[in-house]
Amino acid sequence: MCGSPLTTTTLFEYRFDSEVPILQPKIAVCNGCCCGRVDKGNKEIPVQKLKQAWKEKNLGNDVKLSISTCLGPCSRNNVSLITIDSNRIWLGSLEEEHYDSIIDWAQQISVNSEHTEIPENLKSQRFIPLS
Ligand code: FES
Repeated sequence: MCGSPLTTTTLFEYRFDSEVPILQPKIAVCNGCCCGRVDKGNKEIPVQKLKQAWKEKNLGNDVKLSISTCLGPCSRNNVSLITIDSNRIWLGSLEEEHYDSIIDWAQQISVNSEHTEIPENLKSQRFIPLS
C-alpha cells in the first residue's frame, strides 16, 4: 500500500572482522509505488546501475544494499534510507547524481569502514519524516 511504512528489513547484521562487532551500514533505496514511477512524474531509480556497482565493486561486504518497496514518506520521492549503527538518515528528491554519490559513499566505506560520513550533495537531501 502506498505510503505505508516499511515493515520488514534485516536491521541487524554484524561484521566480525574487528574485535568489537560493528553494525554494517545499510542503504534501502525505495523503488516502490511512487519513487521511481515515471508515470507519476518522478525520476527513474537506477536500480541496475546500483546493483551492478555493488556487484562489480564488491561493496556488499561493507554496505548492505536493499532495493525496497515503499518506505513511507512518498511525498519526498525519490527516497532512500541510510542506517549507520542506530542512526537513520532519510534522503529525498534523489536524482542520478545522488545515486552516484551513494555508490561513492559505499566505496569510501569499503576502503575505510570508519569513514561513514555521507557526501555533501547527499546532506542537502536529508529530511526528517513526520512520525
Ligand atoms: S514509494 Fe513510498 S517512499 Fe518511496
